[in-house]
Amino acid sequence: MKRLCTTLFIALTALSQFGHAAEHPGQSLVDKSCQQCHDNDIYTRSNSILNSFPELQARVEFCENAANAHWNETQINQVIDYLNISYYKFPKP
Ligand code: HEC
Repeated sequence: MKRLCTTLFIALTALSQFGHAAEHPGQSLVDKSCQQCHDNDIYTRSNSILNSFPELQARVEFCENAANAHWNETQINQVIDYLNISYYKFPKP
């Protein structure tokens, strides 16, 4: 029983790290503050204006400002991480 619990724990931890099991903290922030001008389809458009992780960071900061979301640095970083894991998959510098 103890072994099963340990295995389950490791499996769940691994899953949540890849953002499948638990909702990413950035997701609710995007859902709440980032749908006024565009929806999530813009992150997968073929003519994306973003080509690198630093460009994604700059864009999120720009749009956070435009959205008047008043996020702190942690929240901004959560959203950058969420968009990168879910959509852009840029290598981190
Ligand atoms: C005031 C309107 C507005 C709001 C609110 C807004 N955006 Fe944007 N966003 C834009 C516009 C306009 C573009 C397209 C810019 C272009 O094509 O040059 C864009 C593009 C983007 C892109 C790049 C898409 C791509 O791959 O080409 C990302 C990422 C993004 N927004 C993230 C966000 C996030 C995160 C939020 C919430 C904090 C947000 N946006 C809220 C106006 C907005």
